[in-house]
Amino acid sequence: PIKLGILASGNGSNFEAVAEAIAQGRLNAKIQVLIYNNPEAKVAVRAANRDVPAVLLNHRHFPSREDLDRQIVQTLHQYDVSWVIMAGWMRIVTPVLINAFAERIINIHPSLLPSFRGIQAVEQALAAGVKIAGCTVHIVVPEVDSGRILLQAAVPVLPDDTPQTLHQRIHQQEYRILPAAIALAAKQGAGTSWEQRAK
Ligand code: GAR
Repeated sequence: PIKLGILASGNGSNFEAVAEAIAQGRLNAKIQVLIYNNPEAKVAVRAANRDVPAVLLNHRHFPSREDLDRQIVQTLHQYDVSWVIMAGWMRIVTPVLINAFAERIINIHPSLLPSFRGIQAVEQALAAGVKIAGCTVHIVVPEVDSGRILLQAAVPVLPDDTPQTLHQRIHQQEYRILPAAIALAAKQGAGTSWEQRAK
């Protein structure tokens, strides 16, 4: 099994989707540790229910993003993590973390990248008036919400959608493509070139 470290900031329904995929045998992995940054985050309760160790690293207690990332890297090493999954991690990550797990960090973002990078992606999509929205799972690079795309899924935008109703529809697709993308990335291996992948 591949050894996952999950970073999450809030509700953690994507954490749950990964844990469930593992429990059902759809993903050959083990969640070594959850790292969360918000003392109130519901994801901590989900981890406890799944017997996954949870480590709170409150970003407010670190002087810089780099200091937080150094502690994240140390924790990931401590728990023998080989792939890092950002499942609703709402902090910008720095090269301190990215270089320590080069091409082994995966992010899920609630838009069809490269459209609507950054925060409030669902609100951005509604404001733009797009008729198709969706989600993207990609490899993390220093530029925010960029990096090689692993999987995407599209959903319709309906006339009466609010950010909540649209995000709910996107979430349903996230639960499907995040575990699948983790399996795909592990199969391809980190650092695989485009040429090698094409074969
Ligand atoms: C997900 O929709 C994820 O795509 C998004 O946060 C949500 C977390 O939900 N991530 C970002 O916006 C990253 N910039 P969850 O806590 O229920 O998994």
